[in-house]
Amino acid sequence: MKLLVVGGGGREHTLVWKLKQSPFVEKIYCAPGNAGIAQDAECVPYKPDDLEGLVDFAKKEGIDLTVVGPEAPLVAGIRDAFEAAGLRLFGPHSRAAIIEGSKVFAKQLMAKYGIPTADFHIFRDAREALSYVRELDRPCVVKADGLAGGKGAIVCGTRQEAEEAVHLIMEKKAFGKAGDAVVIEDRLEGEEVSVLAFTDGETVLPMVASQDHKRVFDGDQGPNTGGMGAYSPPPVYTPEVHEEVCQKILFPVITALASEGRKYQGVIYAGLMITEKGPYVLEFNCRFGDPEAQVVIPRLRSDLVPVMEAVLEGRLHEVSLEWDERAAVCVVLASGGYPGAYEKGKVIFGLEEVPPDVLVFHAGTARANGQIVTSGGRVLGVTGFGKTIREAVSRTYQAVEKIHFEGMHYRRDIAHRALVRGEESGC
Ligand code: AMP
Ligand code: GLY
Repeated sequence: MKLLVVGGGGREHTLVWKLKQSPFVEKIYCAPGNAGIAQDAECVPYKPDDLEGLVDFAKKEGIDLTVVGPEAPLVAGIRDAFEAAGLRLFGPHSRAAIIEGSKVFAKQLMAKYGIPTADFHIFRDAREALSYVRELDRPCVVKADGLAGGKGAIVCGTRQEAEEAVHLIMEKKAFGKAGDAVVIEDRLEGEEVSVLAFTDGETVLPMVASQDHKRVFDGDQGPNTGGMGAYSPPPVYTPEVHEEVCQKILFPVITALASEGRKYQGVIYAGLMITEKGPYVLEFNCRFGDPEAQVVIPRLRSDLVPVMEAVLEGRLHEVSLEWDERAAVCVVLASGGYPGAYEKGKVIFGLEEVPPDVLVFHAGTARANGQIVTSGGRVLGVTGFGKTIREAVSRTYQAVEKIHFEGMHYRRDIAHRALVRGEESGC
């Protein structure tokens, strides 16, 4: 088979790395890819939002299966465009991807079908939103309706912060049309977990859970980022919690979408808060998470290609997934200044010193004058394994210390919640 992977981050490098191991795969292209992906696939210079260019390329090359990493092309209808051209693509149609494309849609769907999520109000008028938050007597989260590159949810501790968030999203239009409407919801307390699942629109096959670290600095300080690291499995996600998530969230949302005429095929990502009252949905995404993919996919022992084909052919009930029992930890190495402004073109040293049992997935990297240099905010994801999370943490950080580029920074406390829980329970 000839495959095309769309995207150029750590998630896409992980997908390429995994798909390449399939005996069904002869050749992989990646659009646009990065310097690491170029070692495993042929990179082609199409942007993920160039749907027409990608369809033409896939037709010309006779691509058997296209796999999409990022949300924007899915929300924009890349599955629909490929299908119209007679091409197979793994990922939901736009009418189903709207679960990530519109938070208003997602919240209304959850309310209609009784899926646990924070209480909320929807506003399309800034003055009404402002007068609501001025009266509010509890912390809230203000969320832009549309896609905002992971920056559209502002967690507010005070009325003033909430007013500023409404102002930023609805009046200053910091995220453009994505801020035409906002969801203002109660702030939940607890520990976050990401659960990804394959679904063909009927059967739902959950993957192992993981935990992301969104804030840029240790101790969950500083601004939100795309994700500074992840680990799997998170101890807070017990078998009991998993059962509740399946019964109250994952199965119901897929059934709800189907009964709304929005059959969902692909990976659904539930961003959850595990509260004292059980799991609540913070958001649904229409794709693999990043960096979550960098710990979840390496733990998958099964071949990914037949799973993806079963999703597209409505045969997921025939599939079961096998998992590596070992824990996985991914530490993201970022450019100096990220998530704010950062410089590019810094030479990356030490990649060849990383031991072979540790994986290095490239995100913002490029090749210049025969060297690998930085070209984005999140530059590399380093994933290590261990019999325990503690062992995986130690292996990963030992490998991280081999790598260096000017301005490089990373969190030194990835998986801290698991380690604290382990100590509390005497492990
Ligand atoms: P979202 O894009 O909706 O997942 O929000 C991004 C991040 O904001 C989440 O990963 C949480 O850290 C935080 N967040 C979102 N909604 C809530 C909520 N209702 N309560 C507390 N934190 C939240
Ligand atoms: N790591 C968060 C996301 O992929 O949306």
